[in-house]
Order: sequence, then structure tokens, then C-alpha cells
Amino acid sequence: MQVLPTIRQYESSDLALVLLLIDHVSGREGEPALSDHKSHRVSNTADVKEFVALIDEHIVGYLQAAWHRASTLEEDGHWAIEAVLGDSVVGTEVLSLLLDAVLTEIPEGKIRMWASTAELVAAAEALRLQKVRQLLRLRLERSDFLPIAVFSKGAEIGTFVIDRDGADFLSVNNAAFAGHPENGALNHGDLAERIAQPWFDAEGFVVIRDCGKMIGFCWTKVHENGTGEIYIIAVHPESTGRGIGRRLLAAGLEHLFGKRAVPSVILYTESDNYAALKMYESVGFAIDREMGQYELPRHQPNG
Ligand SMILES: CC(C)(COP(=O)(O)OP(=O)(O)OC[C@H]1O[C@@H](n2cnc3c(N)ncnc32)[C@H](O)[C@@H]1OP(=O)(O)O)[C@@H](O)C(=O)NCCC(=O)NCCS
Repeated sequence: MQVLPTIRQYESSDLALVLLLIDHVSGREGEPALSDHKSHRVSNTADVKEFVALIDEHIVGYLQAAWHRASTLEEDGHWAIEAVLGDSVVGTEVLSLLLDAVLTEIPEGKIRMWASTAELVAAAEALRLQKVRQLLRLRLERSDFLPIAVFSKGAEIGTFVIDRDGADFLSVNNAAFAGHPENGALNHGDLAERIAQPWFDAEGFVVIRDCGKMIGFCWTKVHENGTGEIYIIAVHPESTGRGIGRRLLAAGLEHLFGKRAVPSVILYTESDNYAALKMYESVGFAIDREMGQYELPRHQPNG
């Protein structure tokens, strides 16, 4: 008979075993088991709520919940959760118990879970959670890169200057991503937090100005494993449709494949961002991973 795990809140003495679980699952999946943001917050109980699932003192599951503030005036924020499930457990059962604990400990507010592995997606679907978003990861190998014809003229390409470009970046970004749940309402603090990251490289943060006014940017990043990323690309809504996005993408890829010599480049996009998808696919990007975001009902998830 399957032994059900017990669930309790994370304690600081769990750290080593939780990190082991995260490492193991990352190795098994060939992908980080937690997003960057969440992996930096393991054991940071001031900012997050954490839960573990145990069988015979072994940690077989971990869940982290963090408050995700509202991105627009219209939308409330939500609790964003991610879970890591070990081997030799029935994912649906462990997830169901972890979610019950979250619903009890967090009695109010929306709760949404990212499912980034096939097992988590299957468990979320089995628990009949409602899918509210779908994110795609696209990848471009250097050998599949199709040359980009650049037509937009007039605007000047340069790189981001920390003391000069912050406010302009925020204004283009927040206009281009208005209403977007993560990127739609960045502020100076968010920007400073990213600039302080070890991967930040102003050379890989391309900006484009027209008559001195910033109208778009392509911010790239290189991961520790050497993979490049088109981290954020955006054109101000008043300047879209005239070749600026394609020109920025060309500059970002030139930096990553040329100067940084990365073997492949990834990016994340909403599955319904048709304009961006068309642009990416036209230069050779192809989908290599799908992630679903699910909302927890305010009653027993399996009830
Ligand atoms: C996606 C975005 C950067 C494109 O910028 P842009 O300057 O309008 O793009 P371009 O004029 O260079 O067009 C490049 C290609 O994108 C695609 N495209 C752009 N707008 C499109 C639209 N409205 N519908 C369909 N395809 C579109 C086309 O393939 C186009 O190439 P084509 O004109 O040769 O057919 C811009 O729309 C934007 O900032 N959107 C909001 C932010 C965002 O979603 N960023 C990407 C997140 S992953």
C-alpha cells in the first residue's frame, strides 16, 4: 500500500535535504526544478512560505509560495507557487496534500501554481486545476539561425547606460507590456535588483532611440550553463510594425552568438503572443518546452 507523506511547514534544518531534492530533480529533468526567482528564496522565510512532504524522515516534496504583487491597478496580486516532487512518490497525491496545506495556511487571495514538468502538469490536470496561462520556451541553435534582414532606418542602436537609461527603459517596458502579469509594472527597485545580478551585462542590453527618445530595447542574458537568453524585448506601442523589433532581435542575437559565442539561445513567451511568436519563428526559433499556470480553487483541490 502506498504510504502517504506527512506535510509540514519548512524548518531551517530541512535546508540540506531540500537542496538535495532540488538538485536531484533538476538533474532528472535536465532543467532547473525551480525558477531563478524561487531558487534564490529557498529558506528565506521572511519573504516566502515553504512546505515539505516527508515519508520516513525523507523529504519527497517541497513547495514554495511567494506573494506576487498586482501588476496593474485592475488586477489583485496572487500567491505564486512552485513545487518539486521527488522520485518514487505518486505526484498527484503528494501535490494534492501540499496544496491542501497551502490552502489552509494561506486562507485568502488567489493562489497560482506554475507546472513546468510533465509530472506536475499531469498532477495539476488530474486534480482538475484551472489552467490560466500557458508559457512557451523557444530555442534557437546557432546552426538553425536564419539571417535577419533589417529594414528600419533612422533610429540609433546603442547599449544601456545605468545612470541614464533607467526611467526610459521603465516607460517603454511598462507601455509595451501593459497588463502583463510579471513585466507590466516594473519599477526602479525591480530594475536595480536585476542590474545587481551577476549575469547583468550592459553590452548585452541593446536600446534603440529615435530622435533621442528610447523606443525599444532587447535585454539579453547568458546563463551559468552558457545558454543565451533574449530576456526581455519590447518596442513602444507607438513605434511597432516598422521593423524595430526585428532590428533589436538581430542586435541581441548578434551579441549572444557573436560576442558571447553561445551555442544556443532561449526565450520565454506567452502562447498567445502571436506577433512575437511570428517574429521569433521567422528567424528559426522553435518551441522546446511548455509550462502551464494553474489556479487553485478555494475548496479541496481533489474534492
Ligand atoms: C513583439 C514586438 C517586440 C515586435 O516589435 P515590432 O517592432 O512591432 O516588430 P517588427 O515591426 O520588427 O516586425 C517583426 C515581425 O514580427 C511579426 N509581427 C509584428 N507585429 C505583428 C502583428 N501585429 N501580427 C503578426 N505578426 C507581427 C512579423 O513576423 C514581423 O515581420 P514581418 O513584418 O516581416 O512580417 C512588439 O510587438 C512588442 O514590443 N510587443 C509587446 C512586448 C512583447 O510582447 N515582447 C515579446 C515578449 S516575448
